[in-house]
Amino acid sequence: MAELTFLEQLDVLAEAADSTFEAVRTPEALEEARIEFLGAKKGKLKSIQKQMGQVEKADRPAAGKRFNEIKQAIEAQLERAILRVQTLDASDSDVPSGEIFDPSLPGNACRLGHLHPITQTIEELKDIMGRLGFTVADGPEVEGEWYNFEALNIAESHPARDPLDNFYLATANSNSGLPRLLRSQTSTVQIRVMESTPPPVRIISLGRVYRPDTADATHYPMFHQMEGLLIDHQVTMADLKSVLRLFATSYLGSEVHIRFRPSFFPFTEPSVEADFRWHDEWIEFGGAGMVDPNVLEAVGYDPEQVTGFAFGLGIERLCMRRHAINDIRELYRNDVRFLQQF
Ligand code: DAH
Repeated sequence: MAELTFLEQLDVLAEAADSTFEAVRTPEALEEARIEFLGAKKGKLKSIQKQMGQVEKADRPAAGKRFNEIKQAIEAQLERAILRVQTLDASDSDVPSGEIFDPSLPGNACRLGHLHPITQTIEELKDIMGRLGFTVADGPEVEGEWYNFEALNIAESHPARDPLDNFYLATANSNSGLPRLLRSQTSTVQIRVMESTPPPVRIISLGRVYRPDTADATHYPMFHQMEGLLIDHQVTMADLKSVLRLFATSYLGSEVHIRFRPSFFPFTEPSVEADFRWHDEWIEFGGAGMVDPNVLEAVGYDPEQVTGFAFGLGIERLCMRRHAINDIRELYRNDVRFLQQF
């Protein structure tokens, strides 16, 4: 058999490198192939390079050019083989690289979250009260004493105003210089709505309130309330009772009995604690009453012309009763194993 020319030997080498690197699947095979073709001393490229001296002088430039092309091609083969071995290693599988991606396989399902149980309760309360004709009003969580206390007829000497029972902010309002605090009740929104709208009024307001209570099974320094306010001509306590009864019946899903107990709030007169009957128990669900004439006057309404009722309910309590949650702290630990149940 005639001896192969230099160029022919290069072609044979290129072909062998092609099939060897193409078959590489493991780090060991990779290293073997690298030494076989690119090894600095005994590599096949190296030994072919040594024969360059025997090529006719005239043919040498063409041979050198071809040699460099083949060398680059083999180096590129090595790079591809390195990547392939890394990918296979990461996916820990021996599927050939060409078959790794199968577009017909089902995708990885992504985990969907859902609304927090308190948010779900808020949505449901809005829905029920919306059907009773109440629209949603909003107010800020950082308030002044006028909205949190004074306009609500809560006198300077009232224990609810004790600085130790409220979260006062270290800095005053930059415009008025008046103290600021985190609202301790959503009743603030009654004042904001009445100041900016003439009667009649029929609103609810749902949101966070803050009190420096030590957290235990039934207390948390932040919780949610739903405030209700209805102002019109000749509103009576019978209207209050029927609205609360319709509300409780819708929320609990069966005919619910309501009970009023006499109570006191500075912003209502008379004032009541409202209870509903649930599993043969009377459950307290909030305070209510007829809006005090002093409050109506504070917002510029005429107590001779309009009357109204107001109520305030704890949203956590409603949510916890519904779901039989017995520790309020569970709602705010952000443990998905707990929250995903609701
Ligand atoms: N603001 C009261 C509280 O946080 C709850 C309340 C009672 C709201 C009576 C009212 C009401 O609107 O009429 O304890």
